[in-house]
Amino acid sequence: MTFGADWLKIAGMNTNVDKPLVGILMGSDSDWPVLKAAAEALAEFGVASEARVISAHRDPHGLEEYVSTAITRGLRVIIAGAGGAAHLPGVTAAFTTLPVIGVPILGKAFDGLDALLAIVQMPPGVPVATVAVGGGRNAGILAAQILAVGDERLQQALVEFKVKLTAESRAKNKTLQNG
Ligand code: RP5
Repeated sequence: MTFGADWLKIAGMNTNVDKPLVGILMGSDSDWPVLKAAAEALAEFGVASEARVISAHRDPHGLEEYVSTAITRGLRVIIAGAGGAAHLPGVTAAFTTLPVIGVPILGKAFDGLDALLAIVQMPPGVPVATVAVGGGRNAGILAAQILAVGDERLQQALVEFKVKLTAESRAKNKTLQNG
């Protein structure tokens, strides 16, 4: 299943789907609510992304094809989210030198700990940058930060984002019920 221009339009995202820099993979369409937050964060920073359902277990050959051609198609970062026996991010990292960000998805058991451990416990030589269980938004922000290393416009957008984050945090003091 592919989440292309139509999905992004339905989700209300102003994303240039013609030139995606970030590939967002998920093991199943049931993971989309979490991964959608990554696409939304990227869209906030003006970074185009493409989303695909490619299961490491149900479609291993499709995964190899997608990931091994990712660099030549222009992708610069891959975000991969899965639940349960979450091998998608790790297998993705095995097929590419692109940075891979793993998103553990809360499944039907173990409060998402199964997916977290499956994604974070990678063997030496094949790293996956793992965010929190359900951390789709942080995955998108981290992807933007990786891309910003070589992009001044994006770097500036991230500086402004941090300034806003600080202001919002300090503003919480105004409504804090002391005592
Ligand atoms: C994983 O199994 C997927 O990443 C998903 O989180 C989970 C459940 O998949 P479905 O049963 O919804 O297809 O592979």
